[in-house]
Amino acid sequence: MDNQREMKQGDAEKVKSILWEKEQLFLLDQTRLPGEVLLEEQNSVEQVWDAIKQLKVRGAPAIGVAGAYGLVVAMREQTSLDRTAFVAELRKQAAYLDSSRPTAVNLHWALTRVVESVERSRLQSGGDLFAVLQKTAEEIHAEDIQLCRSIGEHGVSLMREGMGILTHCNAGRLATSDYGTATAPMYLAHGRGMGFRVYSDESRPLLQGSRLTAWELQQAGIDVTTITDNMAAFVMQQGLIDMVIVGTDRVAANGDVANKIGTLGVAIMAKHFDIPVYVACPASTVDLSTATGEQIVIEEREAEEVTHFGLRRTAPEGIKVRNPAFDVTPHELVTGIITDRGIIRPPFSETLKAAFCQ
Ligand code: MRU
Repeated sequence: MDNQREMKQGDAEKVKSILWEKEQLFLLDQTRLPGEVLLEEQNSVEQVWDAIKQLKVRGAPAIGVAGAYGLVVAMREQTSLDRTAFVAELRKQAAYLDSSRPTAVNLHWALTRVVESVERSRLQSGGDLFAVLQKTAEEIHAEDIQLCRSIGEHGVSLMREGMGILTHCNAGRLATSDYGTATAPMYLAHGRGMGFRVYSDESRPLLQGSRLTAWELQQAGIDVTTITDNMAAFVMQQGLIDMVIVGTDRVAANGDVANKIGTLGVAIMAKHFDIPVYVACPASTVDLSTATGEQIVIEEREAEEVTHFGLRRTAPEGIKVRNPAFDVTPHELVTGIITDRGIIRPPFSETLKAAFCQ
């Protein structure tokens, strides 16, 4: 197909979750990894909404960037509108994209930033307003790379030669525009010649850990071992884990963090074995308007993700199912939050405010 582009395996360093090329948006279809590396051109806002919903593009920072470019796709045929009509249509499209996934605050943050940049400008024509919109989306994309790089620079101070690190889900290059959040310290340390081992939880039900994290770290030549989620306690008990680093979809003002379902269990186990738990994220994931984790909306997904393994049914027909995509780890279980502004430590309600309230 013309709007799909296949890439070679082994090109992981060149593979980007989001490609903005000649003013066209391409998203890597992550549901096909690790088997196929396929970039899909996005030709309508509905297609972008669907890509976010279906987790073709996923991970908090990446869906923020995809959402911002989604507005470019939505509005590029609307340049003949006058200012009032353009802004009204833009708000409508932003609300539509925002409805695709509720938990990661980065999506809402990026959409709001694009809409506000247009509202703030005094330009009158749809064409001029569209140029502002596109520039803001491109800025969000470029900044995401820089923010992840800074997370890596701060987080690398926690890395030690020979250590074992457990991670859950994928907070890697694939979940961002580059470097990842949880993986940024790993990529930087690896680039500087440090040896360490990563244990990647499989992350049921959609296997972001084994399909995505294991894939991207392996492609980069980092020593990575995949385990199923229920092996984590045993691996910790064997003394193989010195530190947990995970990503997050939203950090509340008190330091509670939402992340992929299973992160809470990892943090509870780590406490038992006295292993530090670090959470890595850019400023756009910190949501000081959400007081505690209790207020974070947790996405519930389709039952088939739990009742089926691939196309094969693994639970009885008609069975009751719960499928929350995320859980909230209380701040007491978090050792520190590695951000682009430094490593934030308890008491989080004070330190987060000091770092992120401008
Ligand atoms: O459902 P997903 O795959 O979007 O969940 C992703 C995660 O939970 C990540 O850990 C989180 O978004 C941080 S990504 C840097």
